[in-house]
Amino acid sequence: PTRLVLDCDTGTDDAVAIMAAVGHPDLDLLAVTTVNGNVPLPRVTENTLRALDVVGAPVPVHAGAPRPLLRPDFPIPRDELNGRDPDFQPASLDLPPARSRVASHEAVRFLVDFFRDDAHDDVTLVATAPLTNVALALSVAPDLRDRIPRLVLMGGGVAGGNVTAAAEFNLWVDPEAARIVLEAGIRDVTILPLDATQSVPLTLADCDALDALGTPGAVAAARLVRHRIEHDPDEERAAAFGPCAPVHDALCVAALVDPGVVTESVTCPVTVETSSDRTLGALLLDRRSWTTDPPNATVALRADRDRYLAFLTDALGGRAV
Ligand code: BDR
Ligand code: CA
Repeated sequence: PTRLVLDCDTGTDDAVAIMAAVGHPDLDLLAVTTVNGNVPLPRVTENTLRALDVVGAPVPVHAGAPRPLLRPDFPIPRDELNGRDPDFQPASLDLPPARSRVASHEAVRFLVDFFRDDAHDDVTLVATAPLTNVALALSVAPDLRDRIPRLVLMGGGVAGGNVTAAAEFNLWVDPEAARIVLEAGIRDVTILPLDATQSVPLTLADCDALDALGTPGAVAAARLVRHRIEHDPDEERAAAFGPCAPVHDALCVAALVDPGVVTESVTCPVTVETSSDRTLGALLLDRRSWTTDPPNATVALRADRDRYLAFLTDALGGRAV
């Protein structure tokens, strides 16, 4: 199986990613690190433990950065964001309180020690949140750029953002962190931006199908996705698919198992805007054929809904009680 560590800000879609990573027979989730994002850090960590408890997985959880590198804890009040961002979901998880406890409050230390260990030289780092923890780890231990064999992250939007016209949430919350990570020189970086995740929204019928699987993970995922659908005000998407919502973060995990879930991508130089007030946090692709900068990431532009659903079924349906 593909071994992975997940860095997340759980978050309804992070929770689906966690439960899918635990459940899929071809994946081995070794640890989870948490970071400020959808909700404040203590809530993120509690939500993460809840998601792991639902699927009965004793995976160690390390709590990390409580705020972005340079900016205030959260750039605008979360309540305000709720009303103006079609992709942002109120992220409290309606799951039973966590029974398990965090392994440490030293996620950055954990990432450094973990990836310096030769026994982990095949482990993929999957980041589905603001990149604060990963940037801190690369800053205190620059050698990590050669020790992390592969980074798969959800962030950015090539065609446009979800928090602002230009910026997607994960990159917007901590643009400096995102830039540090993308410019660090990690050799294999895959980005799943909104272009890919929004091309494969889940519908109410998909939730019914998850429910029918009957496992704790599938039933919990169906509840979380229905919650996302209820709060998704994107009319264009609803016109195309019926009531639906993207489940961004789990697509990163799907791409580990089935690279063919991504149907269109581009490999090129990529960075993040960190200074303009209008386009702060925007993912910037240099697609000029004559650019002299080396490519540093592969960016997914579209995904296959049937393959995504097949992945979720395999991942969430496997643990019947
Ligand atoms: C990303 O932001 C968060 O709200 C989600 O968990 C996802 O990681 C989507 O923009
Ligand atoms: Ca997330």
